Amino acid sequence: MLELKRLSVDDGLDIYTMLQEIPAEENGLINKANGLTFDEYKEWLIVKQRDSEQEGIVDGWKVPSTTFWLYADGIPVGFGSVRHFLTEALRKAGGNIGYGIAPAFRGKGYGKELLRLLLNEAKGMGIDKVLVTILLDNIASQAVAIANGGVVTERTDERVFIWIDTKK
Ligand SMILES: CC(C)(COP(=O)(O)OP(=O)(O)OC[C@H]1O[C@@H](n2cnc3c(N)ncnc32)[C@H](O)[C@@H]1OP(=O)(O)O)[C@@H](O)C(=O)NCCC(=O)NCCS
Repeated sequence: MLELKRLSVDDGLDIYTMLQEIPAEENGLINKANGLTFDEYKEWLIVKQRDSEQEGIVDGWKVPSTTFWLYADGIPVGFGSVRHFLTEALRKAGGNIGYGIAPAFRGKGYGKELLRLLLNEAKGMGIDKVLVTILLDNIASQAVAIANGGVVTERTDERVFIWIDTKK
């Protein structure tokens, strides 16, 4: 059974352990919890919770964003985050949604399901159209977005821009 849970300041060791298995940076996906001590991770959860509750833009660039964990049969296997709206900079790189599956669980269809569930959350937040920007050589992520109804609208030397209508 697959389930999406919103980040909570009460998250514990299972999430911490998963986040140590996902690289700090991979294909532009940032995991700031990688390499933290458990106590630092608990502090980081508080910051992420605040990121979700923030209203408007902070420090000139930071938009509100909500993080979710994907559980498969009770085990955390990945994470994703939804930015509540876009700035001009995020339209060029970053987009609305980022996602990652822990290496040991890749290739099992979890990436596709994770994005499907995140799109549902985005829809619930009132986001009608979601942008995902993906590096050209990240074929797996492009497949995940296309499988979720994504339409490629632009290609640069670096990235593919894919929009997904959450109402379809
Ligand atoms: C991208 C990512 C989330 C995909 O997760 P996953 O669970 O392996 O994906 P799925 O099992 O749902 O597979 C999705 C599709 O990608 C394909 N795929 C998976 N791994 C692949 C690989 N290494 N090379 C090529 N295609 C691959 C699958 O065959 C499937 O395609 P299909 O729909 O044609 O069958 C995962 O590889 C990941 O976390 N990567 C690092 C972080 C990242 O790149 N995030 C996205 C940033 S935009």
